[in-house]
Amino acid sequence: MSESTTIRWEQDATGIVTLVLDDPNQSANTMNQAFRASIIAIADRVEAEQDSIRGIIYTSAKKTFFAGGDLKDMVKAGPEHAQDIFESALGIKNALRRIETLGKPVVAAINGAALGGGYEIALASHHRVALDAPGSKIGLPEVTLGLLPGGGGVARTVRLMGITDALLKVLLQGTQYTPKRALDNGLVHEVAATPEEMMAKAIAFIDTHPESRQPWDVPGHRIPGGTPSNPKFAANLPAFPANLRKQLNGAPYPAPRAIMAAAVEGSQVDFETASTIESRYFTELVIGQTAKNMIQAFFFDLQAVNSGASRPKDVEKRQVRKVAVLGAGMMGAGIAYSCARAGIEVVLKDLSAESAAKGKAYSEKLCAKAVARGRTTQEKADALLARITATSDVQALAGCDAVIEAVFEDTSLKHKVFQEIQHVVAPDALLCSNTSTLPISVLAEGVERQSDFIGLHFFSPVDKMPLVEIIKGERTGDEALARAFDLVRQINKTPIVVNDSRGFFTSRVIGHFINEGVAMVGEGIEPASIEQAAAQAGYPAKVLSLMDELTLTLPRKIRNETRRAIEEAGGEWATHPGEAVIDRMVDEFGRQGRSGGAGFYDYAEDGKRGKLWPGLREHFTKPGYEIPFRDMQERMLFSEALDTVRLLEEGVLTSIADANIGSIMGIGFPAWTGGVLQYVNGYEGGVAGFTARARELAETYGERFTPPALLVDKAERGEVFTDS
Ligand code: NAI
Repeated sequence: MSESTTIRWEQDATGIVTLVLDDPNQSANTMNQAFRASIIAIADRVEAEQDSIRGIIYTSAKKTFFAGGDLKDMVKAGPEHAQDIFESALGIKNALRRIETLGKPVVAAINGAALGGGYEIALASHHRVALDAPGSKIGLPEVTLGLLPGGGGVARTVRLMGITDALLKVLLQGTQYTPKRALDNGLVHEVAATPEEMMAKAIAFIDTHPESRQPWDVPGHRIPGGTPSNPKFAANLPAFPANLRKQLNGAPYPAPRAIMAAAVEGSQVDFETASTIESRYFTELVIGQTAKNMIQAFFFDLQAVNSGASRPKDVEKRQVRKVAVLGAGMMGAGIAYSCARAGIEVVLKDLSAESAAKGKAYSEKLCAKAVARGRTTQEKADALLARITATSDVQALAGCDAVIEAVFEDTSLKHKVFQEIQHVVAPDALLCSNTSTLPISVLAEGVERQSDFIGLHFFSPVDKMPLVEIIKGERTGDEALARAFDLVRQINKTPIVVNDSRGFFTSRVIGHFINEGVAMVGEGIEPASIEQAAAQAGYPAKVLSLMDELTLTLPRKIRNETRRAIEEAGGEWATHPGEAVIDRMVDEFGRQGRSGGAGFYDYAEDGKRGKLWPGLREHFTKPGYEIPFRDMQERMLFSEALDTVRLLEEGVLTSIADANIGSIMGIGFPAWTGGVLQYVNGYEGGVAGFTARARELAETYGERFTPPALLVDKAERGEVFTDS
């Protein structure tokens, strides 16, 4: 046994040393300080005892091979920690390098997921055998957390597969491969079906390669595909950053740029220098704000959300066996597919057998596509389809233990539909509505068991969108909330939980983004600049094109209903300057959005989006009128963040993590911000800086930017938005 704490040394009689990665203090191995000390001690021992060593195998005693960097430390790292981060990263890399260059064969027996740091250990091995374990993933997803692989991942993938392939296949998208796809793409050498086979293959490599070196340590090695010192390659080089800019649409993501720079610069120097360059860029990213935002959202918040921070604790977990989906339109068809894919029996009901069959045909189309692309087998696709029964017969719903209603958006119709089925389905069936706007508490009045009634707001297209917003009505019970939460997890989606209110969280907040974009058209700002501002702020959809997708008449209908409800309750409606623009577009110019063939954009006969409607300039734009580009972007971002704070004040939102994740995964709030409230936390000058800037915007652009009391309070106390 070695002295080290996170790596066990097991040597057999033939001289093979198995280094078992097994951090005793954590459920998964990470590159923490204990690992750093351990790997350095291991490198010392390997060098000291090399005469008795025939080969080395890295494997792990955990379910996953190795998780990755220590993210807890990274979110706390400020510029004052730069030197420590740099040296710590280099310390681990140097130890792996010493083991890699000893001349002994080194094999990674990848027994489970090897993402980030895990795959970097594998890359520091001469041979990689991956166990084809279910759910096992291989790759370098650092870019999705605003980081770059700082454990040798850039330097080695570039030398292994060439600059272009390393960037496109591994580094820039952070693709996570199954073991088989990792093999096809050259990330591993072999795949094994069982742990025994994996170890046998590892030993076979050692037996047949008594001396081993990495390809890049063999004299004369050239990086596949060339480097900038090759004139042909150099001629193509300017296209790299240009393509990246195009891909990012000008959005502020520092990691892809840093990765590209580290790859290109590192390709022109020796391995050791490349490794130092990589560590420099890594350090820069770690101490920056974007990585902190993205780690907070995509690691900590997402984990909290999915693990049930917003789920009532004392309700036992239950699985749904058979679900009734009412309405086989666009949403119902997608919901049926997602449920069947997760192994749930589905009864898809519509008014006629034909409409129901049309809804099922959507699953048939998706299955055929998945088979054609090799993402599933014909057998699995057939089984999925066999789980969906399309029908117009209410009696077919007998025995369903959950109902998801997705008929037209109409309260009395929804009441009627629930009346019809409530005594046919199982007597304790969970009752869910997929309404996108109607108050859940009002819909619940249509059923006898109001405590079992809940909102389950899916997003379109359902098979692709990862989020479901769960809406708790006034009388929804904890049992129903827990069961709804479990159902969303059962179909592999991410559930956020909010309390009932008009537009809930997502529909209400996205409305502010759209209104702000539209208001700018009304002020006379060039529409193309507004679209550009949204793209460069990092929104995946430009604001006016998104308005067209949603159709202009829909927000108007919702607005009028909300206004009536507020006024009836004795409240006052604050008119948004965007409203007048929508009214003119619809009433004066007959432009209702994409489905009507004309909106802020022109559309071709086949529905394809053309150019911005020239009439916008004629009727709205004031030539020469401009506001700062930053103001345009911040008006959109702030309008969403400020309303989210108001939703916290109103008690509609109760979890910061839910707000952050819901905003990114449901309504396209830019991912670099870490979500709508992390944007406030991470703004220059923190919450106080954000508040001051909101006041400035309020003075220039209107009272709607006035900071709410909760925000002012947080700023004064020096607090941030956090659940802990
Ligand atoms: P849709 O118009 O595509 O489909 C509605 C379906 O319900 C039609 O097939 C219709 O025949 C069927 N239907 C009507 N009365 C019925 C009855 N008595 N029994 C069984 N089926 C009946 O509508 P879509 O877009 O699928 O929307 C459905 C619901 O989902 C609405 O409440 C909508 O607000 C909500 N929603 C829509 C989203 C979207 O992006 N379209 C997003 C989230 C929620």
